[in-house]
Amino acid sequence: MARAEPRVEVAAPPQRLARLVPDPQLDRFRPPASQLAALVDIAADPRGTVTALVADERLLGYAAFHPPSAIEAWGHDRTGELIELGAVEVAPALRGRGWAERLLTESFAGGRFDPTVVFATLYAWHYDLRRSGLTDVAYRRMLERLYRSAGLELYPTSDEDVRSSPANALMARVGPQAPPEVVEEFHRLRRAAPGAPHVAW
Ligand SMILES: CC(C)(COP(=O)(O)OP(=O)(O)OC[C@H]1O[C@@H](n2cnc3c(N)ncnc32)[C@H](O)[C@@H]1OP(=O)(O)O)[C@@H](O)C(=O)NCCC(=O)NCCS
Repeated sequence: MARAEPRVEVAAPPQRLARLVPDPQLDRFRPPASQLAALVDIAADPRGTVTALVADERLLGYAAFHPPSAIEAWGHDRTGELIELGAVEVAPALRGRGWAERLLTESFAGGRFDPTVVFATLYAWHYDLRRSGLTDVAYRRMLERLYRSAGLELYPTSDEDVRSSPANALMARVGPQAPPEVVEEFHRLRRAAPGAPHVAW
């Protein structure tokens, strides 16, 4: 039987995600079942958004957006408005076909994140170097292209973890309707961030 073409589902509800079976190789950040559970939690958060790549009720990829983790420096957001693009992952069998780009661009479509700042910390210890065959710096360049396709740009930061490797980076998209105090808070945190524990999100 022919396999269904994957579909992008923006802002998938938690109940919907909970019914999916994760691809066994969706394992970059956690074992697939734990990762799915984490995505369900994010989708259940009123400020969280999970965009899912689905075929035949299988989860083949996702982009996860959530408030910054309270245990990270970015969690000291005084506005409570910043959003972290915590992870994007596509099952290895589907990589290189533009799915990650679609997950991101469709997540941002319709102005969903226009009233805020969405940031992403790129840490080399999350990269799938083994399956990609890329060096860490080449992987960073790949991610930069990917995130730029969704409107994120590079920003300098004092975050020691980001600065600990040239393969790391901070990227962000300042939404066109983001209030000045939210934009200011992002700039304050990127300049003040002393370093964060190594967590997936
Ligand atoms: C990063 C990841 C999500 C990309 O998914 P993908 O569906 O293969 O990405 P796309 O096909 O949309 O490609 C996006 C860009 O990366 C490039 N790219 C993808 N795989 C590449 C590779 N192995 N080598 C070089 N470039 C690559 C594409 O050419 C494209 O760039 P372009 O638009 O300039 O052509 C996927 O590799 C992955 O799941 N990695 C593990 C998790 C991870 O590293 N997440 C990011 C940190 S949170």
